[in-house]
This record gives sequence, structure tokens and C-alpha cells, in this order.
Amino acid sequence: MVHRVTRKLNLEQLEEAASLIRAGGLVVFPTETVYGLGANAFSPEAVGGIFTAKGRPQDNPLIVHIASLDQLDQVAAGMNRAARVLLEGLTPGPVTVILPRGSGLAPEVTAGKDTVGVRIPGSAVARRFLAACSVPVAAPSANRSGRPSPTSFAMAWAEMEGRVDAVIEGPDAGLGLESTIVWPQSDRVVHVLRPGGISPEALRALFDRAGLPEVELRVAGHLLGETLPAAPGTRYRHYSPKAAVRLFADAAGLADQLAGLGADAGACSLIGAELMPGAPRTSSPVFQHRSDYDSLEDYARHLYRELVEADHRGSRVVLAWLPPPAGLGLALRDRLERAAGKTG
Ligand code: TXA
Ligand code: MG
Repeated sequence: MVHRVTRKLNLEQLEEAASLIRAGGLVVFPTETVYGLGANAFSPEAVGGIFTAKGRPQDNPLIVHIASLDQLDQVAAGMNRAARVLLEGLTPGPVTVILPRGSGLAPEVTAGKDTVGVRIPGSAVARRFLAACSVPVAAPSANRSGRPSPTSFAMAWAEMEGRVDAVIEGPDAGLGLESTIVWPQSDRVVHVLRPGGISPEALRALFDRAGLPEVELRVAGHLLGETLPAAPGTRYRHYSPKAAVRLFADAAGLADQLAGLGADAGACSLIGAELMPGAPRTSSPVFQHRSDYDSLEDYARHLYRELVEADHRGSRVVLAWLPPPAGLGLALRDRLERAAGKTG
């Protein structure tokens, strides 16, 4: 990989960051979900650089980011009614909508597919940057492939310094988990390809309010006995720190994990346990670190940082609570299970 001199740009330098994008460069930028690694979505060479910087498989398509719905015809070719409801009801916000692909995009963006994932971030900083770019920006999360996604400038810098042209020093991600990916296959069938900050419950309510109660929502991998499509990227092991991530759903599960720690007992971080119903709030000398979250939102916002920090403090094991699969819990479960090594 070619070494790049990476500049740190502040929020007064978004215009400079945008000119790097227009010149074919790679720029890491903040969003409300996670930091993204952006390139001009019209340029095959610039987009190729993303795959190199991340070490990402070429068959995994990228999400295209735009500043507002005014730019939609630069990236997509038409949409059905369900798609319109999603875009008008949820953007700007932490959602990606799969649409028929526009012809101007570099083929590398969509990995040969005839659809494209489109996202208008809720983050005002991200939208200011995207508006300054004036071209659509292809951007995966700014982590090296397989690693936890960065949710702060410091994490993004640590992942990408030397691999990109600039990293924008922006705020921490408010949500901390990647966008919900939704594919409105038709006006009757809508798939959630990756759970995120917008829950299936919220999507259901949106379609009901919009006068589309007949829409059937299908959540990838969660309807038993059926093979449902998932986002291609969800086939890969992901979000993994060096430490082994082990999961528990309740106090008995935690006790089992503790009993099995053996020699790793002194090098273990515990996260999320305080949110478990009926969890004792006492601290125990066994743990190198123990989280103290108030809510599932707090857990989601800090999850990736916790995984990276566990490695920094030399934890060999991260014990993490697996919340029930409702609301944000669905997205947390998805990321935790992948971090623990479960694929597909
Ligand atoms: O919140 C987010 O979505 C962040 C920020 C930076 O916007 N981006 C992000 O990108 O998470 P990435 O590349 O880490 O994840 C994109 C996911 C992959 O699983 C990919 O397979 C899927 O989106 N994807 C992209 N285009 C698709 C398409 N046309 N059809 C189905 N899945 C698609
Ligand atoms: Mg990613």
C-alpha cells in the first residue's frame, strides 16, 4: 500500500477537505453513526483507493453519501412509493436506502450490483462537508476491514493515519452504530438488510403513518426457516478487537462465562452487565474494567470504543451483555454477535 501523508483538518477547513475529494483524494469525515472513509463516487480510481486503504474485499459495495435529496438524481435512477416514504420520513438520519443505481457512479461503488445504498447523514457537519464536495461521496466506515468502526476522531486517526489524505477532526458519533440499511424491494415488501439506529418498530410506525399499512417488513436473518437477503458486508466477520468477545444474556450466562475464564480471569473487561434486568451493581476485583451505562443508547454509543480500549489495556477477553432483540437491542445484538465471530 502507498503511504499517504495524512492531514488533520478542523471544522473551519471543510472546504479544503472537499477540494481533496474533488481532486480524487481520500478523506475521513464524522457522521452521527460512525466516521466514514470518503472518496468521489464518480471516480473509479478514487473509489479504488478506499478498498486499498481498508483492505476491503472488492465484492462488498459501498454506501453513497449526499447532502440532501436534491442530489438524489446524481446517484439513483427512480424509486417506488415505499422508498419515497423512507427517504422523506427518515432523512437526514441514520438510515441507508437501497435504490436502483444511477448510471454515473463508478462501477466499483456498487461492486457490479444494479442497486446503490444512499445515505443523507443526520450529522450537520457531515452534510456541510458533503455539500461542499458537490459530488456524491462513497464511504464505508473508516476502520481497517474486520475491525470495530471508529466513533471518535482519535479512533479514526489511529485506524487511517498514513492511509488517507485527511481526517476531519469532528465530534464523537452520537449513535455509535452504523445506519439501518433498508431495501424497499416493492411497495409491499421492504427488507431490513442491516439493523441500526432506526428500529423495525420505527419503520413499521412510519409506513402505518404514511398510509402504507400493507407493507411487509422482513428483517434479515430473523425469520426462521427462510433464507432472507442481508447486506453483502454482513457475510464477513466484523467489529472484532484482538480480545475474544464472549456474550451472555442473563445472570446465569454471566456466571457460566466467569467460571470458564480460567487463566484469563485477570485480563477481562465486562460491558453492558449493569443494564441486565436484576443485575447487581457491585464491582468485582476480577475485572480490569467494568462499564457503567445508563441506557441501551449509551451502550451503543460506546460499544466500539470499549472494544478498542479493551485491546489497549491488554484484555484477553471482553464479556458483553447481549440485550433482547427489540429496538436498538436488535442492532447491538447484530454487532456483538459479529464481534464474537458469528458470521452469516
Ligand atoms: O452508518 C453508516 O452506514 C456508515 C457511515 C460512514 O455512513 N457507513 C457504513 O458503510 O457502515 P460500510 O461500508 O461499513 O457498510 C456498508 C454496508 C455493507 O454491509 C455493504 O455490503 C452494504 O452496506 N451495501 C452497500 N451497498 C449495498 C447494496 N447495493 N445492496 C445491499 N447492501 C449494500
Ligand atoms: Mg463497516
